[in-house]
Amino acid sequence: MDFSGNHILSIDQFDRSDIEKLFSVADKLEPFASKEKITRVLEGAILGNMFFEPSTRTRISFGASFNLLGGNVREITEVGSSSLAKGESLADTAQVLSGYSDIIVLRHPENGSVQKFAEASRVPVINAGDGSNEHPSQALLDLYTIQKELSQNKKNLDNLRIALVGDLKYGRAVHSLCKILSKYSNVKMDLVSPEELQLPEDLLNQLTDARVSVNQTENLEEGISEVDIIYVTRVQEERFNNKEDANKYRGLLSLNQSIYTANCEPNTVIMHPLPRDSRSDANELDRDLYANPNLAIFRQADNGVVIRMAMFALVLGVEGKIEKTAKPVNWKVGLSS
Ligand code: NCD
Repeated sequence: MDFSGNHILSIDQFDRSDIEKLFSVADKLEPFASKEKITRVLEGAILGNMFFEPSTRTRISFGASFNLLGGNVREITEVGSSSLAKGESLADTAQVLSGYSDIIVLRHPENGSVQKFAEASRVPVINAGDGSNEHPSQALLDLYTIQKELSQNKKNLDNLRIALVGDLKYGRAVHSLCKILSKYSNVKMDLVSPEELQLPEDLLNQLTDARVSVNQTENLEEGISEVDIIYVTRVQEERFNNKEDANKYRGLLSLNQSIYTANCEPNTVIMHPLPRDSRSDANELDRDLYANPNLAIFRQADNGVVIRMAMFALVLGVEGKIEKTAKPVNWKVGLSS
């Protein structure tokens, strides 16, 4: 795929070499994300960071990534504060915002909305989540994290064994992750969910067409034994017609240290796209897992910065100019020990 000047809307656009290219740019950006160096390679550029649904990590890390490359960020954070609330079409909003921005990141509650918006945009658009459909930047940072965590145990993405746990029906992070994992060989996947929240049929077919070996179960203990990665997700209550229906599933698949110890291999890595539902009736990942060195959820969230920096660098065609513009950092980074 040609990144430069193009939209990123779906994992379907990527092949393995595109992923490798993005990851190699991300690796080069690590010193900039960790504030060993700074760059102003996107000086003068404007990101339109448009979030019409709640977000913490995705919005802030897209914004921070753009800032770290030297660009400026303009934001909308709710439908109520934009002209969509006055009946403006997404296409008109796209026409207007693309006149003010060099690139747009969009999150929107409707499936397919980001594609519609991109068709009317005059600048590249990155999908930051369209309803329950896709969340490509999350899948990229998840895969980057999986690769890093596995490499410590001398394993790689081919032959991966992973359990996807939780709301597999509405979870867009899981949907994009399934698509990206289907590009690797000999992947074994345990899909752990209540029957009503199983992975949609079209995605299941995509996995079997790609020869992913799939096992569907409602039993957490069964699903998480003999895997390299456990990827837990939240019940996506905002996608249910009725919140009461979502409540039925809360807390059914909670993971804690004793379940982990009894069922998992010693190096099984625990991931979650976050936010994890920590209310007592859900408790998706118990606090007692904090002491578990295989809990990778915050390393995973941190990786969002380099991955999103790499996406911007490639789409705006500056990946070869970053090193040349590098400077030392002027301030003290982090806390004194
Ligand atoms: C996910 C999302 O918004 O789809 N969050 C995120 O972007 N890290 C997962 C979720 O909200 O459950």
